[in-house]
Formats: sequence, structure tokens, C-alpha cells
Amino acid sequence: MSLEKCDIGVVGMAVMGQNLALNIESKGYKVAVYNRDHDKTKKFIEERASNKNILGTYTYEELAKSLNRPRKIMLMVKAGKPVDDVIEQLLPNLEKGDIIIDGGNSHYKDTNRRFKYLQDKGIRFLGTGISGGEYGALHGPSIMPGGDKSAYEEMKDIFEAIAAKTEDGPCVAYLGPSSSGHYVKMVHNGIEYAIMELISEAYDIMRKVFRLSADEMHEIFKKWNDEHKSYLMEITYKILEWKDEETGKPLVDVILDSAQQKGTGKWSVQDALDLNISIPTINAAVNARTLSAIKHERLEIGNIFDTPVNNSLNNDFINSVRDALYIATIIAYAEGMKLLQVASSEYGYGLDLSEVARIWEDGCIIRSALLKPIQKSFKSKPNLVNLIISEEFRKDFENRIPKLREVVSEIKKIGIPIPAFASALDYFDGLRSKELPANLIQAQRDFFGAHTYQRKDKEGIFHTEWQDIHNI
Ligand SMILES: NC(=O)c1ccc[n+]([C@@H]2O[C@H](COP(=O)([O-])OP(=O)(O)OC[C@H]3O[C@@H](n4cnc5c(N)ncnc54)[C@H](OP(=O)(O)O)[C@@H]3O)[C@@H](O)[C@H]2O)c1
Repeated sequence: MSLEKCDIGVVGMAVMGQNLALNIESKGYKVAVYNRDHDKTKKFIEERASNKNILGTYTYEELAKSLNRPRKIMLMVKAGKPVDDVIEQLLPNLEKGDIIIDGGNSHYKDTNRRFKYLQDKGIRFLGTGISGGEYGALHGPSIMPGGDKSAYEEMKDIFEAIAAKTEDGPCVAYLGPSSSGHYVKMVHNGIEYAIMELISEAYDIMRKVFRLSADEMHEIFKKWNDEHKSYLMEITYKILEWKDEETGKPLVDVILDSAQQKGTGKWSVQDALDLNISIPTINAAVNARTLSAIKHERLEIGNIFDTPVNNSLNNDFINSVRDALYIATIIAYAEGMKLLQVASSEYGYGLDLSEVARIWEDGCIIRSALLKPIQKSFKSKPNLVNLIISEEFRKDFENRIPKLREVVSEIKKIGIPIPAFASALDYFDGLRSKELPANLIQAQRDFFGAHTYQRKDKEGIFHTEWQDIHNI
């Protein structure tokens, strides 16, 4: 190892940090690494990083001294308090103008707080969403940075070198100020939850109604993916053909039906509620995971109310499921883009939604062929009211909404839960309804709480004395 200083430091030698450090080094940069548990650093240096231009450091002081100025230090540690802990311990070793990049899944409000805190100390901060899991981190992730613009300019070459590449360029762009990068990553994960749930509901229909085996569904999803070209569908068909070494059965059949979550999907829903934005398909996906986790309650209730599955549907119905999945997936993206559009204006991010779609085209978990037309939609109309009225998808909505409706109504008759499919359809039906029953809700609110109402025929705020409370 030469004595020349390192170009960048990476703190956190778990899966993401290790693979990102290796990716950066492979592009010709010298990398210093640090981990709280020094044995992990040592092991990494001796094994995966041996004979590479990667320097192991064992104190924050040593890390800081090993770096060229302005120092660039990327944190790949557990989101939450660990990020604050690391920042506090790094600070005494940094100088004004140095750059901290938080590459973890931090909550955007924490990023806002850290941005201001570090700005006051003259440290430049980039809240940076990174998607693609460990494979993406090593071979090319999608990178979503936001925060200090000048810090981005300093990091641009490294980011562009390590990011996934498409014909439209590297999957990274400066997204905007403060927490914009982490916000975009949060919504990315919300869309991810929805697509995963939609695919799983299609799988549930095929196995319960048509009694298809995992191998048969492997073939179907593989075929459907010719159209989606989606990472999540690709891993789905690969999972379905995987056999359990112990039992010889498809591994998916021996995995417990109880899903965990780390919180980014829930955060999207919470923030959408705060912004008065409806994202029902994403919401349904978060709720579905929560419901899946109470397996013991489902067993108890399922023993009382059994689900009869009568198959009166013919095999053509599977093609309707294919179309329903396709259109509901577009709706999941539409909800996420709408949330980004409103958050951008509310929080002053100034997001370019076509750029967001472009950097999601490869490297990230929600990459799919749909991102190209999504990118085009927002390029030609940056203030597009909703993706569902984009010219790019007009034909798809005309042709496939009837299939989504068919799937939701037939499956609801049977009693298999399809919350994401049903919510996607309700989102579409709600948005295209020129008349909703909220007039009655206004009247009810005014009746019991004197909350007032607006009228169709004239401007103003009105109240009716619906009841004579003094004579009740
Ligand atoms: N895994 C993925 O596929 C993925 C994908 C995208 C984004 N992310 C995000 O990227 C970040 C890193 O993810 P990961 O899966 O590689 O790791 P992780 O399991 O989220 O975190 C483990 C790392 O955090 C360090 N750490 C925990 N508490 C600490 C503290 N108080 N002080 C200093 N270091 C501390 C650990 O150090 P010790 O070894 O000393 O415990 C270890 O290096 C997370 O924010 C994660 O949400 C992960």
C-alpha cells in the first residue's frame, strides 16, 4: 500500500459498505475503510480487500488523517442513532469544507436535522439514498443524492463511476437540497413494497385458484417479464424454481408466510397522510405485511371462517391476471410519483421527476421497462397531473383496466385477499370520478360538529342549523 492519501473513506463494513468500497476501488480510487467492530475491518482487509487499494483504519483520527482534503466520508451504518453517533465521533477529526455522505436509509427528517447541524459547523452533508442491495452496491447501484450542491460536485466523478449505467447515462443525479435524496429513496421503497405485494397477490391467485405449482408459476412469471423487464419479477421467477436442499420441495413453499419490514414503506404512507396525498396501493402493501406478521391470529380466525376456493374460472383468467398486474404496477409508480411531486413543492426540493425515473432505470430494486415511458411522461410534461393520464400509458389503461376490474371482482367473490389489486383499482376509479359522495360527508360533519360546508352553486362557507340543540 503506497503512502499517498485516500480519495474517500467508507464507515460501516456490513454488506453495503464492503461492496461499495470494493466498487469504488475497482474504478481506480483509493479507499480507506473503518468499522466500529475492528475485527470486521481486519477480516475485510485480509480477505475481500486483499491486494486492493483499500486501507483499513482503526480510529476515526486515523481515518481522517488518511484522506485527501476536502475529506469525503461515506457512512454505510445502520439507520437511526448510529448515524448520529458516528457523526459525533467523526466531527473532532474533520475540518471546514469536509464532506459527509450518509448512504443509509435514513429518515428524511433526520437528514434535515443533520444537514442543518453540520452546515453550522461548516461540514458539507449529502443525504444519499442507495438502492440495489449488495449486488448493486458492488456492480452498480442507483444513487439518489441530495443536500449540499458543492459537495455533490466534489462527489460527482466517484458517484458516476460506481453507479449503474443505461443508454441515458449513469443512474445518479443531484436531486435537490436538504433531504431530497433520502425522500426519493423512501418513496422508491414505498413503490417497491407495492410491486412486491402485487406480484405476490398474482402468485396467490395462481396457486390457490388454479393450483399451479411453483415450477409452473416460474414459467408464467418468466414469460410475463418479457414485458415488465423488472428486477422484482426476475427475482420472483428465480425464487419459484429454487428447491429446498433439505426437503427437495420448492423453497418458497417451506418459507413462512409472515413478512418483516424495516420501515421505509411505512414512512412513505405516514408522510403521504401528512401531505394529504392518497397512495392506497402502497398503503395496502404496508398493511398486508403487517397482517401477514400476525400469523397466530390468522390461524385462529381461519379455523372459524374457512376460505372456500371454488374454481369456476377458466385458464384465460390467468391472462387477465397478467394484465391486471401490469396496469396495477403502473398505478403503484403513479402513486409514488404523485407523492414526490407534492413533497417536492411542499418541501422545496425542486425535483425533476423525469430525472428521478431515469436514475431508477437500472441499478435499483424497482428498475423495469416502465421507467422509460415514465421518464418520457415527465420530460414532456413536468407538471403532469398524474401518470395515469400520460399519453405513454393511455392505451394500457384503456385495454387493461377492464382486466383489473375482472380480476378484482372475480377474486373478491372467492374471498382471497388482494388488497393491492383492489386499492389500485379504487385509486383509478376514485381519480376518474367527477362526483364522489363527499357532499354527504360535508353535510354529516356540519350536522354533528358545525364544521361548515361549501356549495356547488356559489362561493363561500355555509352552515345549516340541522338540529335545534336547545330542544333536544
Ligand atoms: N442491505 C441492503 O440491501 C441495503 C440496501 C439499501 C440500503 N441499505 C441501507 O444501508 C445502510 C447499511 O446497510 P447494511 O445492511 O450494510 O448494514 P446494517 O445491518 O444496516 O448496519 C450494520 C453496520 O452499522 C454499524 N453500526 C451499527 N451501530 C453503530 C454505531 N452505533 N456506531 C457505529 N457503527 C454502527 C455496524 O457496525 P458493527 O459491525 O460494529 O456492529 C455495521 O457496520 C443501512 O442504512 C441500510 O438501511 C441497505
